[in-house]
Formats: sequence, structure tokens, C-alpha cells
Amino acid sequence: IKKIGVMTSGGDSPGMNAAIRAVVRACAYYDVKCIGYYRGYEGMIDNDFIELSPRSVKNIINKGGTFLKSARSEEFRTQQGRKKAYQNLKKSKVDAMVLIGGDGTFTGGAMFSEEYDIPVVGVPGTIDNDICGTQYTIGYDTALNTVVDAIDKIRDTASSHNRLFFIEVMGRDAGFIALNSGVGAGAEEILIPEEDQKLEKVLESLKRSKRSGKTSSIVVVAEGDKTGENVFELAKAAKEQLPSYNPRVTVLGHLQRGGTPTCFDRVLASRLGVKSVEFLLDGQRDIMVGLENNQVVATPISDIVNSEHDINRELLRISDILSI
Ligand code: F6P
Repeated sequence: IKKIGVMTSGGDSPGMNAAIRAVVRACAYYDVKCIGYYRGYEGMIDNDFIELSPRSVKNIINKGGTFLKSARSEEFRTQQGRKKAYQNLKKSKVDAMVLIGGDGTFTGGAMFSEEYDIPVVGVPGTIDNDICGTQYTIGYDTALNTVVDAIDKIRDTASSHNRLFFIEVMGRDAGFIALNSGVGAGAEEILIPEEDQKLEKVLESLKRSKRSGKTSSIVVVAEGDKTGENVFELAKAAKEQLPSYNPRVTVLGHLQRGGTPTCFDRVLASRLGVKSVEFLLDGQRDIMVGLENNQVVATPISDIVNSEHDINRELLRISDILSI
């Protein structure tokens, strides 16, 4: 392998820049050329790339977002799109690709590596943490800290005004962000798609805690949760049954995706980025690098795609106990 391409695709996540930096510098260390494609698969299709040297990635370890930019490519879903991408890689003599992204990115990567003889390695970068084959994805820790910080602020108002707050957090159809930030921020209730909580039960529990002397409450709701039709409907139902609680809704939205990556995410990105290059140079292909029990491991990329994610139910139990 003489030349490796790198790109970031799907929703950006804090630490993606640190991962690109690690790939570029590992390539230089092993005397391999490196180019970066802009806007993920879109850049591969449009042949929009930049040559990268160790100095091209200076001062980015601390920056959120991705300087290579990101996109969700519709064209790469088509055979024609993938063919264009392949032809461009061949033209630039790219021998292998490092794909930094989430489930959609790896779905594309798995298809591409089946159709064409270009080894790929996936690096998990998404705030959602919904990827099997790794305990942590790059950006998840930063997003959790952002969410906890936001909830701490909302708690000030909740307690000053004796209010009930419903706070919607991201995570697509996974509840990792909600569950962990909920426990970390001391939420009364945590609603996640993996657990079918009944609306009546949730309202009952809120009433009980109010009777027991609580003057304000926080409910963290994962965006994929189906307990109510949506977070606003939940608040409406709560208003009917707990009018004095004056329920309010906050949707945290995209602020969860930005910001300075935490040290944890920078270290994770650095480890996975370097290892992605080393695995390729060792002859491994079509895998995703991940962290399991503090070791960097490789899992076939086709096993990652559409696999079930495992939520830590023990945390729900802990949350129940602590919200008494
Ligand atoms: O996958 C990351 C994520 O932020 C999800 O949590 C969320 O559902 C989705 O992306 C939002 O996507 P977009 O930025 O395209 O609205």
C-alpha cells in the first residue's frame, strides 16, 4: 500500500479532526502517501480531494466538526455513483480508504469493498454511539458532556420556577446519549427507544415524586423514543395531569454535535486513526476498528452494518433507584 485516502461522512462528530490527523500522521510515519476527500463519498464521486502532509493537520486536534467536511451521499447509494468513485480512486492511485463515520458510512463502505478491490477500514465517528464492535464512538463522550452541561443549566430554571422539563436529546433510534446523560445529570425519568415505558407509568411516577416533596423534575427523552408521539405531546399530557408543574420542552438539537472534543474523544480518535493505517499495512481489509476493554480491535465491516446495539439496562435500574 503506497497511498491511502481518508474521508469523513454522515453526521459530523467532535474528534473527527483528531482522527484525520492520526491517519495522516501515521501514513507519514510509515512513508505512505495520504489524500483527503472532501464531503465523504461525494468528494470521492466528484474527485474533490487534497494532498495531506503532517503539517496539513496541524492545530486541529482541538477542533470540533471536520475540516474535510461531511455529507450523506445519495449518489453513492447507486452503482453508478460507486463506479465513479472507484474510477477516481484508481486515477489517483489510491490503494485503500479509511472511512470515518457511522452506520450509513459503513453500509456504503461494505457495498463498495464487495464490488471493488479497494481495501477499506472504518473508524467509528458519531455522537450516537450506536455502532457494535466498539464500546465508544468518537464524539459520543463530548456530546454527553455537552448534554449534561445543558441539562445542568436547565435544572437551574426548573428548580427556580418549580417546573417539569422534558429535554429531547439526539441519538437517532438509539438511547445511549439519553441514558448516560440522564444518569449523569440526575434526571427523574429517562425515556429511550430500547425500553417500552408506558406514558401512564411515567406520569404516575412523576406525580409520586411530586407528592414525596420534589418541586421540579427533569425527563430526558431520546429523539427515537415512542412513549409519546413526540416530546411536545408528552409535555401536553403532563400538563393535563400535573398542571401545577407548568411543563416545558427543550430540544437540544445540533448543539450536541459541535464543540471542542473532550480528551477522551481525542485519545480515542488518535488510537483508532493510527490503528486503521497499521491494520491496512498489515494486510487487513474491510474491517472497522473499535475499542473493546481498552484494546483496539478489528471487526468485519459487514458485521457492523445494521447490527443490533446493546444498551446497558443496568443504568435504567440505577436511574430508577436514584430518582426516588
Ligand atoms: O447521527 C448523528 C445525528 O446527529 C443523530 O443523532 C440525528 O438523528 C441525526 O444525526 C440528525 O441528522 P441531520 O444533521 O442530518 O439533521
